[in-house]
Amino acid sequence: MRLDVVTIFPEYLEPLNVSLVGKARARGQLDVRVHDLRDWTHDRHNTVDDTPYGGGPGMVMKPEPWGEALDQIIESGDDGDGAAKLPTLVVPTPSGRQFTQALAVELAERPWLVFAPARYEGIDRRVIDEYAERLDVYEVSIGDYVLAGGEAAVLVITEAVARLLPGVLGNAESHRDDSFAPGAMADLLEGPVYTKPPEWRGRGIPEVLLSGHHGKVARWRRDEAFRRTSRNRPDLIERCDPAALDKHDRKL
Ligand code: ADE
Repeated sequence: MRLDVVTIFPEYLEPLNVSLVGKARARGQLDVRVHDLRDWTHDRHNTVDDTPYGGGPGMVMKPEPWGEALDQIIESGDDGDGAAKLPTLVVPTPSGRQFTQALAVELAERPWLVFAPARYEGIDRRVIDEYAERLDVYEVSIGDYVLAGGEAAVLVITEAVARLLPGVLGNAESHRDDSFAPGAMADLLEGPVYTKPPEWRGRGIPEVLLSGHHGKVARWRRDEAFRRTSRNRPDLIERCDPAALDKHDRKL
């Protein structure tokens, strides 16, 4: 998968060199290209923002540098074989659709994502309208809070997408049981996990996990998942298909 990020803070994206995403890059599974938006400005001050029409606080990102940057990046997908490849444009914004595991799965199927994280009050709307005529555009919010810019959202979205790419996680099974994975245990959150030593500061391991009884372990995990979801995310239980819950759940 190819990922391009256009930003006025390229150094903000340095964590993309680390850990899972960094390793995927080193292995050639991810081709990440970070660009400085100011490279597409032409004035002495490298201006990327201006005052909003209609008044109001803050500044708005000017359309011209974004247009030049995105045109050049899109053109780079044309390798002359007559079948220009087009990216999917992802615009992080608190006004976007909610980023979910299902959306991560959808984005992980795209061969090429271009991220356009904004600073200030956002990007001049005409940029999004212009590229929506040529590309699939996803305006995405990572949560109901306002960040100082979209770069942190790019890191979040990239990590959630990258770990779904074939071969990126060590164990192909490891995201099967993720909280929020489609088809995960009735969309419950994952329960607690334990490892060695068997006793730490006087605290032991739930007996059932030492029993070697797979059926009982599965039942226990399910019950813990249900308990944790009820406590931390009762909204998920309410939205749950009742058929996905079983007799045990209803008694908990
Ligand atoms: N930019 C600022 N806040 C954001 C949010 N919650 N999600 C995505 N991008 C953002």
